[in-house]
Amino acid sequence: MEPNKYSFSYEVFDSIDDLSQEDAWLLNEAREVTSSSYAPYSNFHVGAVAKLNNGEIVVGSNQENASYPVGLCAERALLASAASLFPNIPIQSLAISYVNDNGESNHPISPCGMCRQSLLEYEGRVKQPIRLILGGQEGKVYIIPQANMLLPLSFTGGDMK
Ligand code: THU
Repeated sequence: MEPNKYSFSYEVFDSIDDLSQEDAWLLNEAREVTSSSYAPYSNFHVGAVAKLNNGEIVVGSNQENASYPVGLCAERALLASAASLFPNIPIQSLAISYVNDNGESNHPISPCGMCRQSLLEYEGRVKQPIRLILGGQEGKVYIIPQANMLLPLSFTGGDMK
């Protein structure tokens, strides 16, 4: 037996005020894009905004459905848009924010498991990690250098070769 360990480093900021101008702008946009969310069932509105290598900005928000599993998270809505509008252009940074109508919106949330898998595939596909900026409408902000860090021991296309 050989013990193994997984860990990763990320940055924690006290507030959006401590971010670089560009990161603060992206997070602010993500905060605002929550208003395009369609979330009548969860009342949890998520907004995502990405800056691509070519300078373009792409947004996404969660889009729910009366048949609950049909709903789409903000992150995957964004990835579908980015891949359709700008095929093969890597994503540099992706900010995610939310408004919780039923509670507080003051701490960072991180992508769900399904979105982690999608983000990982995107990174592999365009061969560049996606930097994540996570924050609520106020409060602490996390910066995670690569989305794949959130999915250790992941399953990828390489496993099927
Ligand atoms: N949701 C996202 O869009 N992104 C996340 O990172 C977490 C969850 C959405 C899915 C659903 O519409 C609502 O938030 C509550 O789970």
